[in-house]
Amino acid sequence: MNDILSQLAAHRLVPVVVLDDARDAGPLAGALVGGGLPVAEVTFRTAAAADAIRAIADRGDVLVGAGTIVTAAQVDQAVAAGARYLVSPGTSRAVVERAQEHDVPVLPGAVTASEVQAALGLGLDTVKFFPAGTSGGSAAIAALAAPFGGVRFVPTGGVGPGNLDEYLALPCVAAVGGSWMVPRDRVRDGDLAGVRSLVADAVALATRLRP
Ligand code: 3PG
Repeated sequence: MNDILSQLAAHRLVPVVVLDDARDAGPLAGALVGGGLPVAEVTFRTAAAADAIRAIADRGDVLVGAGTIVTAAQVDQAVAAGARYLVSPGTSRAVVERAQEHDVPVLPGAVTASEVQAALGLGLDTVKFFPAGTSGGSAAIAALAAPFGGVRFVPTGGVGPGNLDEYLALPCVAAVGGSWMVPRDRVRDGDLAGVRSLVADAVALATRLRP
């Protein structure tokens, strides 16, 4: 695992952020840092994504990455904006190879043995297990870890305080991603104190669950 992915793994949690307005990025970053989790995966689902990443990257105190990266052009935009890592919902050779050209770590989505094998074939050892809840959850990850001993998973999608323990208990889980700590409506409404509190709760829970 490279250095950036090791830092993600050390935090154990990856907040998945959807920002409608790049002006919310700075205050959100402040809430993440204040809550004890200086990590953000800003998804390319809104037009604000690149500017939001740039604003967070410029602060220098948050490990910011880009999510929902589905094209090589988005890889270029995200890296230019300052994304330190990239996350894809699925495994795309074009996305992975462009990320590798930039020497930026990429987590492609993989939930089947064939998809994990494809990621391995592209030289990767860490994948996003997405959507985790509807793809068999922690039991499916444990089953995949048997043949793929060196692979680390970042389950995301349907994860929250009620099932975080199942995922973090697995040694092959590098970190867990999710939006529950950073609800889109709270960010949009400027409820940064609420976000900070959710983030702090998530950090406390993950710390309690640390093996
Ligand atoms: C993602 O892009 O990783 C997911 O939308 C996050 O899933 P969640 O909202 O269920 O946490």
